[in-house]
Formats: sequence, C-alpha cells, structure tokens
Amino acid sequence: MLTYEEYLRRVPKVELHCHFEGTVRASTFADLARRHNVELPTEEVGKLYEYDTIYEFLKIFAMVSSTLIVREDFARAAYESLADGVELGNLRYREMFFNPTLHTRRGIPMATCIDGLIDGISDAEADFGVRCRLIADVYRQDDPAVARQMVEEVLEHRRPELIGLGMDGAEAPDPPEKFVEAYRLAGRNGLRLTSHACEDAPAQNIVTCLDQLGCERIDHGYHVLESPDVTARCRDEGIYFTCCPTSTAVVYGWPDLSAHPIKDMVGAGLRVMLNSDDPTMFHTDIGQEYMRLCTALGYGTDQVRKFVLAGVEAAWLDDGERAAMRSSFTAQLDALEAELDGDRPGTAPGPGTGPGPGTAPEPGAVSPPSGRGAA
Ligand code: ADE
Ligand code: ZN
Repeated sequence: MLTYEEYLRRVPKVELHCHFEGTVRASTFADLARRHNVELPTEEVGKLYEYDTIYEFLKIFAMVSSTLIVREDFARAAYESLADGVELGNLRYREMFFNPTLHTRRGIPMATCIDGLIDGISDAEADFGVRCRLIADVYRQDDPAVARQMVEEVLEHRRPELIGLGMDGAEAPDPPEKFVEAYRLAGRNGLRLTSHACEDAPAQNIVTCLDQLGCERIDHGYHVLESPDVTARCRDEGIYFTCCPTSTAVVYGWPDLSAHPIKDMVGAGLRVMLNSDDPTMFHTDIGQEYMRLCTALGYGTDQVRKFVLAGVEAAWLDDGERAAMRSSFTAQLDALEAELDGDRPGTAPGPGTGPGPGTAPEPGAVSPPSGRGAA
C-alpha cells in the first residue's frame, strides 16, 4: 500500500519550469567554488542558499553561475540536477532553462556552456532514462541588444537539444516589451517561446508576452487573476501556466500554500502544471512540490492527474512522443492509484477548503529559506 505522500512523490512527472543554475547542489556549488577559487559568503554549505528577496536570490544565482567554468562543470551539475529530479520525484522529462549571458559575460564560450549541459543531460538519459531539452533564457536586467546577441550566439551554436527561448530575472523593473526583438529573432528561427510573467507584475505582462513576444506558455502567471479579461482569454485559448508553489511562496509572500493563487487559477479553469523552479536554492524538489501543494489544497488523485497530464500536453514534444508519454503516464497513474491506501484527500473537504484561522499549519506551509537547512 502507498501513502498519499509516497504516491505524490512517485507519480511520473514532466517539468517545464526549472532553472539549471538553480538546481546546483549546495555541496557542488561549494566544491566548484573551491576548485576555481571563487570566494563564498560563508564556509557553511547549509547557509549558502539563504536570502529574503528575489534580488538577494538573484545575486546568489549569479554567484552559483560564476563557479561554472569548464565544460565538465556544466556537465556535472546538469547530470546531478536530473539525477535529483529522478530520485526525489520520478522526473521523466524536463525542459530546462539556463541563462547564457550569466556565463558568456564572464568569458565562458557559449559552446562550453551548451555542450557541457548536453553532456550532462545525455549521461543522465543513459543512466536514468530521463529526457531533458534546453531553453535559453533572456535575463531581464540585460540590455535588449545583449539579449539579441545572446539569441544570435545560441542560434550559431544550436544543437537539437536546444529548443526554446524564455525569460527570467526580476520582472517588475524590466517588462517584457523590452525584448521584442530578441523574441522575434528566436521565433523566426524556429525556437519555441515562453516567458516568466506575472510573478510580481500586472496581468498586462501576459498580454504582451502572448501578443508581442509570441509566447506559447506562461511561466508563473499568478497575477493573471487580477484581470478577468486576461484570465478569460487564457482559459479560452488554453494557455498553459508553469507554476511553482514553493519558490513563489518564499519570495513573493504566499507562505501558506493553502492560499496560493494556484488554487484560484485552477478554480478559474486555467491550465496549470507544477514545477520546482530552482529546487536546490529553494530547498525543495519536484516530488515535494506535488506533496506540499496537493496536501495543502486537499487535492485528490483527479487533480494530480490533471497536473501531470497538463505537463505532457504543454511540453514541446512532437505528436508521436506526446502520445507515447501520455499513454505511459496514464498507465503509471492507474497503477499507482490502485496501490493507494484509503487515506487520501479529495473524498473529504475538497479544494478551496483550506484551514481556517487558528488551525495548525498545513503540511504544505512554507517557511522562509533562512529557516531551512541545505537541500
Ligand atoms: N531566475 C531563476 N529563478 C527565477 C525566478 N523564480 N524568477 C525570476 N527569475 C528567476
Ligand atoms: Zn523561474
């Protein structure tokens, strides 16, 4: 018999919102820093990933990046990242972001970065059967010309594993229209398009991403709910949202997952799938994201199945690959559900009935990163 938490860990998963640099193990970060003489703010590995705001987070993210120097560093970290996803959450397929300019601006050749990542993901596929494709991310704090040049370089070093363009960084100060040119260039050259939007900025950013950048998916998207029109449009057009419970709980102030906007996004009929964002840096993993959110919101197996299969539908697979993954995942979900013990949500109070005032914290409640140990 399986407990509900074991079931949530073991359901097969697709992840479409996960930043390579934010998946580096703290121990690997420390090891690479030692090797390459990068000075760290603390000797204590368990304290490396401590921050309170997105801006502090992004500084550490850049520091992690600065320890990736040679092709083998990228390969090692990518391999470990996928191994962790498989072990901790039965990850089967990931489309993984990386930030080229955080590396190229330090003099690391684009080829070192891309080839190293592909070495790591190929080895992980050989060892664990997990597949991974890459999405180059525009870093919002870069100039538009830097982003455009990044896309040019990515296209010069293009390999079949590199399938898309995305965008991250702090959203509020740098809106998406800044990067129309980079997106148009990528789109014209056949890269698939997505962007972080509405993490901490208004719903209009989603409209810009869809209409001006040509995005097919939206990463995060929580503030969509502030506009009934944009919400209705996204629902009607079947836009997929790649949501990340813990990371946004931590840096954007929804520490109680039972009150996270994901609940209302699902309630509004939007297509949502779950991701770990920067798992090691947020002291989480893809298995825990399912466990925390689904237990906090009382989601039963039907909603879990919806999250899992939304990942399959939203992935940039060809039709044959998608059909094969859909049927394999469905068979695995059926088998896991058959193994479940009787104690599971979805039969008692359903979604939308989070704890009232004064109740004990839900298992999904998230504390700030400084209160946690290293992943
Ligand atoms: N870069 C890495 N993770 C990010 C996030 N959650 N938001 C914005 N930029 C990021
Ligand atoms: Zn992200």
